[in-house]
Formats: sequence, structure tokens, C-alpha cells
Amino acid sequence: MLRARVVLNPAAVVAPVNRRTFGSFVEHMGRCVYTGIYEPGHPSADEDGFRTDVLALARELGVSMVRYPGGNFVSGYRWEDGVGPAEQRPRRRDLAWRSIETNQVGIDEFAKWAEKADVEIMYAVNLGTRGVQEALDVHEYINHPEGTELSERRRTNGAEKPYGIKLWCLGNELDGPWQTGHKTAEEYGLLAASTARALKSAEPDLELVACGSSSSTMPTFGAWESTVLEHAYDVVEYVSCHAYYEEHDGDLGSFLASAVDMDHFVNSIVATADAVGARLKSKKKINLSFDEWNVWYLSRFQSAPLPKEWEVAPRVIEDQYNVADAVVVGNLLISLLRHSDRVTAACQAQLVNVIAPIMTEPGGPAWRQTIFHPFARTAALAKGDVLETRIDSPTYETARYGSAPVIDAVATHDAATGDVTVFIVNRDQQNPVELTIDLSAFGADLSVADSWTLTDDDLRAANTRDEPERVTLRPTTDIPTGALTEAGTEVRLTLPRVSWTALRLSR
Ligand code: AHR
Repeated sequence: MLRARVVLNPAAVVAPVNRRTFGSFVEHMGRCVYTGIYEPGHPSADEDGFRTDVLALARELGVSMVRYPGGNFVSGYRWEDGVGPAEQRPRRRDLAWRSIETNQVGIDEFAKWAEKADVEIMYAVNLGTRGVQEALDVHEYINHPEGTELSERRRTNGAEKPYGIKLWCLGNELDGPWQTGHKTAEEYGLLAASTARALKSAEPDLELVACGSSSSTMPTFGAWESTVLEHAYDVVEYVSCHAYYEEHDGDLGSFLASAVDMDHFVNSIVATADAVGARLKSKKKINLSFDEWNVWYLSRFQSAPLPKEWEVAPRVIEDQYNVADAVVVGNLLISLLRHSDRVTAACQAQLVNVIAPIMTEPGGPAWRQTIFHPFARTAALAKGDVLETRIDSPTYETARYGSAPVIDAVATHDAATGDVTVFIVNRDQQNPVELTIDLSAFGADLSVADSWTLTDDDLRAANTRDEPERVTLRPTTDIPTGALTEAGTEVRLTLPRVSWTALRLSR
């Protein structure tokens, strides 16, 4: 039996749990919007055409914030196409995803959806084909109270009050040659800085996100952030990070260690941002907005070209997720929480149908993919402060990320209720691990409230329309290997091979 130990201490606080860690992403892409969140005529559609089955699942998922409207889509988007009388809105080509955008959903509709879903909006402006003026225009429409051309247009369109969106992305992935309006770091840094200055003249307390690298494998990774921040440091609060993981050529060991790479990504960009701050003699710290992360079988997408025909809402990257994918997603959330002192916003990409925890069929049901479960449980249980988690674990070798610990974990402590929750993965492919959690620093009055595990004998098992509950969370002790004991100030549990667990202790 493999053994590991985790030591927790309520005095060793990383940072408060930030609700924005549990963000998601709705892009006008594939079926995320149309037949995803919005499907007038669907049996569950409300008076605004929103699927209430999807709204209920988004609430259950615990999503706190949603990035909108893209993504690659935003780099060719004209926001004004999506406002005003629906029947007069133009149909346009979306070059990013080679599809037809009908503009039946725009910011006014999305803001209604966000209110129903009870989520904050993170709004991305187009800095691909557009610039400072259009960013100011959409800001005037969205946030200016009244008495100007565009704020009055919003009011005429039915939204009397401004939307009060605080968090704005200055474009999307402009380091990527695939991006409409792709730029060099120098060009983008200048544009991001002048757009930020203009937006802040209109509303000084906006929180602005400059585009970082679209992946850590980009040749300009690090250098891009450095140049962009040299220009924009004083006027932005965040730099973005994007990372997608997949199992390459059956290398499950590396895939299960994806969070090792995410940790490295975060540490690299924090160091880069802080180095720019030091050069500029600034006391300000730039935080990270990890505003696209997930498992995405990108290599399958790259080998299957986009549809030839121009269609409305085609099926694009509707990845079906299995048990191993869910364990990795749970582990990526562990990594994000661990870095809560600097990663203060994050968005899983995306929410519905497009590499998503929620799937739908047009006219049919909605269901939870495997990756839904660790996200929902983490969002529900991570409360209070994130604690430093000292882990003593066996390690294993991976082809991609070198040596990786078999056990990864993070814990949160809610001083108000006394609850402590530990989120843990076992990455070992063969063996259960007996984990001891040392709680002696909390005193003797903590005991196990509940413990939930996601695993399966079949790591490729998935949820489908016909079998939507095939993979779900189960009480740890209902799993043959999932023993759980407590003695004084220690808890001992046996974590099944390839599993994700959330253990909650209370007074
Ligand atoms: O989430 C899918 C796509 O991935 C987004 O549109 C883009 O920003 C990223 O490359």
C-alpha cells in the first residue's frame, strides 16, 4: 500500500477563497449559446428563450462569473449587431469558427441570462479588428448610466439601469497567429495600454485584463507578458493565462499530472509580472486571470477541419469527458485554489456543449458531464481561507512533466463555521493510497462530516444522453477501497487509484 501524509494548520493561510475562481465561459461558438443556453421553443425555454434546464444546471455547478462573448469569436465581433430589435439584426460570418452568427443573442440578452443564473459578467472587447473607440462605445452602452447616445440606446432597448460590469478583457489571445487581428507583443501592449487608459478615464475603478499567452507552449511565452506589461502595467490589474490539457498517445501518467504544468505556468507568469514590476519600481502587483482552462482534446480538433458549409450553431468541439478527465479537472481546480493569492479570477472553458461540463440536445435533455462533479463540489465546499498544504507523497516519473507527486491536495478553512475541506487526487494508476491528514493544529474537536469520491473501475466511462448518471460522486466509504477512520487529531482515508475526493470536516 502506498502511503502519504498531509499536514494542515489554520494559521498558514494562502489567501481567502475568491469566488471568481469558479468562473466559466460562454462564447458565441458552436452550440454554446444557440441550443446551449438559448433555445426558444425548447420545452424548458422561459419567456426570454433561455433553457431553464441549463440555467438550473449552471446554478448547481456553482458558477460565479461568466466570460462573454469570446474567445476567438470576439476578435471579429461587432457588439452593436447584437442589440436592438431582434428581427433587424444582421446575420454575419464568424471567421473564427466558420459559422453564421445570427445575433439573436447579444449583450442585453446575455445580461438577462446572467441575472437569472446569478453570475457576474466578465466582458471581452474586440481588439482584433477593432480598437479604442469601439471599446469605449461598448463600455458606454453597457455601463454609462444615462443621457448619452449609447446609454440611451441601451435604455430604449429595455435596460434602464447600466449593467455595472467591472471586469473587462482587453481582447483575446492576440499572441496567436490564428487570431483575427493577431499582433506582436509590442503592437498589442501599446493598444492594450491606450484602450485601458481610455476605459479608465470613463470609469476609473474598472478591473482590466491584458492578454497573456494563449498557452505555455507558445514560442513567445513569458516574453509576450513581459513586453505587454512594460506598456500596460500601470493601467491593468490582470494578465490572462490560457491552458488546455489532453491525454496524448495514451500517456495517462503525464495527463494525470497536468496540474504540475499549471503550477509551473502560474509560477512563471507571477515571476514575469513581478520582474516587470521591479523594473518599473512599482509597488503594484499584477494578478492572474486564468480565464480559459480545461481538458480539451485539441489534437482531435486540429486533425478535423471546421465545417465546409456556413451553418448556424454547428457542432464544434463537443468533447465527451471520461473519469480520468474529471480527475484532471478536479486537480486543475486544486492548482488554481493553491494559487489564490495571485490567481484571483479563472474561467473554465466553456459552460455548455463546447468542451463543457453541461451538454444539451436541441429539443432534448440537458445532462452533466463527468467534469461537472469536481467543479460543482469544489465550488460548493471551498469556503473561507485557502491553507498552505504540506504534502509528503511518493512520486512517479512522467514523460511530459518530470517527477510528479502521486498525491496532490489543497485545503480550505472557514473560520466562521469551523469547516475544513480537503480536496485530494490520487494520480497512481494501479494503487490506492492510504492518506493521513494531520489536523493536530486545529485541536481535537474536528470530525468527518462527509467525504465524496469520483472514480470508476473503467477510467474511460462517460456520461451520455442515454446514461447521464453513469459517472457521479459517491460517498468515499461506498467505494470498495475507500476506508475512512479518525483517531484523535488525525484522519486516515484510502484513496482509490485515479480518483478525486472532497473530504469535509466540521466541529
Ligand atoms: O475555448 C475555445 C477557444 O480556445 C477560444 O475561443 C480561444 O480563445 C481559445 O483558443
